[in-house]
Amino acid sequence: MSNLVAPHILALTAYEPGKPEDELKRELGIEEVVKLASNENPYGPSPKVLAALFNANLSLNRYPDPSGHDLREALAAHHSIPADHITLGNGSNELIDLLCRVCASRDDHAVFGHPSFPCYRIGSIAQELRYGAVSLRDDLHWNVDDLLDAVTPKTKLLFVSNPNNPTGSYIAGAELERLLASVPDHVLVVIDEAYLEYADAADFRPATQLRDARERLAILRTFSKAYGLAGLRVGYVIGTPELIFALNRLRAPFNVGTIGQHAARLALGDQAHLATTVDACLRDRTKLRNALRERGLEVAPSQANFLLVKMPNSGRAVYEALLHEGVIVRAMHAPLGSWVRVTVGRPEENTRFLEALDRVLRESGG
Ligand SMILES: Cc1ncc(COP(=O)(O)O)c(C=O)c1O
Repeated sequence: MSNLVAPHILALTAYEPGKPEDELKRELGIEEVVKLASNENPYGPSPKVLAALFNANLSLNRYPDPSGHDLREALAAHHSIPADHITLGNGSNELIDLLCRVCASRDDHAVFGHPSFPCYRIGSIAQELRYGAVSLRDDLHWNVDDLLDAVTPKTKLLFVSNPNNPTGSYIAGAELERLLASVPDHVLVVIDEAYLEYADAADFRPATQLRDARERLAILRTFSKAYGLAGLRVGYVIGTPELIFALNRLRAPFNVGTIGQHAARLALGDQAHLATTVDACLRDRTKLRNALRERGLEVAPSQANFLLVKMPNSGRAVYEALLHEGVIVRAMHAPLGSWVRVTVGRPEENTRFLEALDRVLRESGG
């Protein structure tokens, strides 16, 4: 009998999601668990949005609007662009996969950073693409020339997470503009701005302001992070009508549910709440960074809602020990084996993390 699973799928390293709180509760019988592992907004959407959602008379017996008309119109107004420059995804994750499927064929080539969001690699492998994983300088920082050097005549896609997960580093506006203008025309550049709302560096620029620099440009955004709706799976891509039309040809019908479409529209309309929770995160990002540095730990500069922290020895050992303390962070793979990534949580969650970390490091002699 032939193989059940295609060899390139068998060979890929699957995405390792942050451990769910309930799973840890079940496994270790811990009641009070703090999850700082998936860069969610710990405050969620505003009570106003939740109340409007619960009171909305949604036709849940019907399929959702396949085109996501109302949400796309709201996004179009928000970005001051036509609605045919946008399509929705079941999280931006689905759109990464869709871009690989729509814009590249087997044996084409993709470029992305390393370390960066693993789904660029997974999406490329699933499509049997070759790829160049471009090492970040010092394992942390983007370098535009390194990305440009990795592009080949077969490159169809170049993914940049800006700010980058898991390092929190970013490409400054002028460099991003240079990248967009310099990548050969045949490449679709994908700027994944999942953490854009948390970028406060004076020289950070959203790719939406740089669309004139390049025709083949896709910008990914999500409602999973700052908008606090990770559980509903809503993301979107901004691109030329030609790209959006092509993505819609292959996009699964009804890929974003009715509740997700409605909630995202409500959350988009509540920019005051977004600003309040982002401000809280930025304040607590600084506090947490300082607290970690006071403990003698190296913390990578972050433009996102998480911090990458270097442990004295194995990051995975600290991750495992923290699980037993009821604190879920994220262990990293090489070249970041001694680092852990921690999401900035509510103040009390950050305190709980710091106290647990102190115990863990003391016990390990670190
Ligand atoms: C850089 C980046 N892009 C995309 C995603 C996917 O987000 P979602 O599918 O929830 O929109 C994540 C999630 O962690 C991410 O870190």
